[in-house]
Amino acid sequence: MSLFVRKPLDQLLAQAADNEKGLKRTLGAGNLVALGIGAIIGAGLFVRTAAAAGQAAGPGVTLSFIIAAIGCAFAGLCYAEFASMIPIAGSAYAYSYVTMGELIAWVIGWALIMEYALGAATVSIAWSEYLNKLLGGAIPYEWCHSPFESFTDTNNITHSGIMNAPALAILLVLTLLLIRGTQESAAVNAIIVFVKVAIVILFIAIGWQFIKPENHTPYLIPEGTKAITDNAGKVLTSYDGFFKHGWGGILGGAAIVFFAFIGFDAVSTAAQEAKNPKRDMPIGILGSLVVCTILYILFGHVLTGVAPWTDFVDPERGREASVAYAISNYMKGYEWLATGVTVAILAGFSSVILVMLMGQSRIFFTMSNDGLLPKAFGAIHPKYKTPYKANWILFVFVGLFAAFVPGHVAGDLTSFGTLFAFVLVSAGVWIMRKKAPNMERPFKTPAYKLVSILGVVICTGMIVAIDSRTLQFAGIWMIVGLVVYFVYSRKRSKLRSYADILPTADDFEKNR
Ligand code: ALA
Repeated sequence: MSLFVRKPLDQLLAQAADNEKGLKRTLGAGNLVALGIGAIIGAGLFVRTAAAAGQAAGPGVTLSFIIAAIGCAFAGLCYAEFASMIPIAGSAYAYSYVTMGELIAWVIGWALIMEYALGAATVSIAWSEYLNKLLGGAIPYEWCHSPFESFTDTNNITHSGIMNAPALAILLVLTLLLIRGTQESAAVNAIIVFVKVAIVILFIAIGWQFIKPENHTPYLIPEGTKAITDNAGKVLTSYDGFFKHGWGGILGGAAIVFFAFIGFDAVSTAAQEAKNPKRDMPIGILGSLVVCTILYILFGHVLTGVAPWTDFVDPERGREASVAYAISNYMKGYEWLATGVTVAILAGFSSVILVMLMGQSRIFFTMSNDGLLPKAFGAIHPKYKTPYKANWILFVFVGLFAAFVPGHVAGDLTSFGTLFAFVLVSAGVWIMRKKAPNMERPFKTPAYKLVSILGVVICTGMIVAIDSRTLQFAGIWMIVGLVVYFVYSRKRSKLRSYADILPTADDFEKNR
């Protein structure tokens, strides 16, 4: 048995190595941290910080960042253990396929579609907002909002969205780039990261002088705060629910800003390009998380200190392109900064979208190679050598969301998918410690039982705090996933047809 067992495992690693042909192990710890920051800082910071302040947490959004960061830190430790233990591409999907079996792998893969595909949709919607800001609001409301959004202007005219055309356009451009095989080099990524981080630091440093202490008082949204309405009296946000004010609002805010941390797990997909993955994966994952957490807390403090949080509820005022809004309205003398920030944010968003689309097409590709998705998802372009069909299918799927679904809904679904994967990865670490206690672990999560439990509890807590309609949709998505698995994928799984040679955690153990 062990002879047969060893072969698929070797094959798995050999196949992974083959997929990466041409890629060299060039990334050191610093590059990996930069890669993480490149994928992390995006719409979450530049759009959802204001949304969380306006809808749930008020100035206490800094506390929301801390809670979200704690949840990510526990999950991040678990990712670091897995990524150093099984340093192959495919991230959570690949770990669980080897360690917890096919069904769990499928569930994680299905949830990751939400993370990456809907993440790309969300950031493209944010891209559209900032583009419109840059163009001085030249794009008509109807053509840069989903049909589910509307607002009444000061002349009492109600505008309803038709479709978000700029979001669709940026997705198309980036899809074409991906099909042509354009890859971000470490150098290009480093430049974008430098620009993004410089902007955040500049905003924090300059904005600090414009903080008005009264904007931070009270720090939490008080109970009984009246709903905020638009000019026609339509309720934009009410503060009645548990997660809408006070400490509950801080949790609600954490579920919203959690989106800002998504991407550190993407570092794990670069495991095969790392010079020393066993040492550097944990540094890349946890290092990028630490740097971003510090920046986010300071950023949230400054943004809610410069502009009153109530500005961030009204679409006519600060809800969209909030950083540019805060600078041009409250930081007199620095209007030039608003334009610079907007241009750089657009570039930064593009790289996040690109990484997300790339990550998703790679997951589709891997799932197709495993037989769990149709062959088209794994088809390689004869000339460009990219999974072009997966890219086109993805464009249609992501494009539908970007064009017709409001940004916050797509963003919350993204957070759900990611949190769900985090819960399973956190639990997976404990399961693996039990199943394969002696397997080599270059990075060991300290106090793994506690970390595992807290990772599960905090991430589940944030899932519960996501609004209930989003949860219903996410539940339907996961059920559809199970149906697809049992009706289609299970029968076609390549691994399943070789069930007797499936490498299990025990086999790892025996083959050490
Ligand atoms: N963390 C990424 C962002 O905020 C997904 O855009």
